[in-house]
Amino acid sequence: MEKLWGGRFEGALDSAAAAFQDSIGFDRRLYREDIRGSIAHAGMLSKCGIITEEEGETLIRALSELLKDMDEDRISPDDSFEDIHSFVESTLVDRIGETGKKLHTGRSRNDQVALDVRMYVRHRAAVMDRALFELEQTYGKIIRENKDTAMPGFTHMQKAQPVTLSHHVAAYFEMIRRDRSRIRDIYERLNECPLGAGALAGTTYPLDREMTARELGFYRPTANSMDSVSDRDYVIEYISALSIVMTHLSRSCEEIITWNSNEYGFVTVSDSFSTGSSIMPQKKNPDIAELVRGKTGRVYGDLISMLTVMKGIPLAYDKDMQEDKETLFDADDTAYACVRMYTGMFGTLTFNRERMRKSCENGFTNATDAADYLVVKGMPFRDAHRVIGEIVRYCIEKGKALSDLSMDEWKGFSGLFSEDIYDSVSIETCISRRNTCGAPGVSAMDEFIKGMDAYLDEGCICEPDIYGGKTDG
Ligand code: ARG
Repeated sequence: MEKLWGGRFEGALDSAAAAFQDSIGFDRRLYREDIRGSIAHAGMLSKCGIITEEEGETLIRALSELLKDMDEDRISPDDSFEDIHSFVESTLVDRIGETGKKLHTGRSRNDQVALDVRMYVRHRAAVMDRALFELEQTYGKIIRENKDTAMPGFTHMQKAQPVTLSHHVAAYFEMIRRDRSRIRDIYERLNECPLGAGALAGTTYPLDREMTARELGFYRPTANSMDSVSDRDYVIEYISALSIVMTHLSRSCEEIITWNSNEYGFVTVSDSFSTGSSIMPQKKNPDIAELVRGKTGRVYGDLISMLTVMKGIPLAYDKDMQEDKETLFDADDTAYACVRMYTGMFGTLTFNRERMRKSCENGFTNATDAADYLVVKGMPFRDAHRVIGEIVRYCIEKGKALSDLSMDEWKGFSGLFSEDIYDSVSIETCISRRNTCGAPGVSAMDEFIKGMDAYLDEGCICEPDIYGGKTDG
């Protein structure tokens, strides 16, 4: 296929070098952004009198038809094209002749690709926002329904204090809420239009950059033409936000894998998100959770690739930047698939409430409350801590829980204990007394849920499909 830049060359590009530098294998996925950008550019060229109205109309009509043909799989670029931009332009020239050659007036592939990638990230950020919103709704349902489901909270993987399932899941809800707010910030920052920056120094044509920016749904044109073509910080920011999403999912998956084990038995992963063993008939493995945990490393890798690609390249465009696409696509595809899979898996977990409750009772999760009891009766906290420590040691020796101790045994450690100690160390009391803002007590959780529901009512940042991308996958 003839190159867009062939004029200056006498010899042909070595075929292996051509294959090495071509990007059509992966940038074909930007065809919608590329054609949408070209339609806006053609309309602007004609409005500004740089091409005639008729030429503008011909270009727009042909581009719209090409978009439809590609959407409906009537045509797709083969590997003889260097990149998606060459494919679109050459197909246009095939279809409408000379007028097709005018499309690239006042434009470079540098601002064109910068536009395409920005529009892609913007679209995918909205798709990701929606997927995370659905995850929040899944969490929301479990949070509302489990305010009384006691379970142990852990530190150092040792039982610490009793919480509720509601409270534990609400911790993840908060993480995902911040993830969405990070994605929204990125969306706001990247939403400036680089089209019109040219190769690096703008153009001599009287382009109306405000017009193309508006047409393509951007807040405004970018302010510096060199910056417009030479940075991909929004790609780095986006992959970095995805990496944090993955960190959160991975931690939760690690918990699900542990909780799903025979030893814990807190949850049962549904059959629809588990797999078996080819040799051990009894096995039901939480593969989906393990894969989400495993794929986290891959998204981190994409982030490091992108940071490294960008760190040593001088202004303005350098071909190194072509590496932005595969890392972006891989990180985004992976994280998106993980969010969807994780949401399905989490939403179908069976919580074994009895096991969780029992687990609170046999791990001294009420020891802090027993110490607090003595403090209320007048003992300084440090002394109370020591007394309860001794009681715990005694219980371990006797194989008892605090609630199994007789009144005489309690009194043997301190005269301050009386009958009400039993109520004070009951799991229900330990939870229900914790009602400071953010704590697991029912009234604190009711407050949390009020805020959560108001926030969920706000919905998503935008409709993903309004910017000309496919809504999914
Ligand atoms: N395929 C290139 C990329 O993805 C398009 C821009 C090419 N520009 C250039 N000056 N060679 O970055």
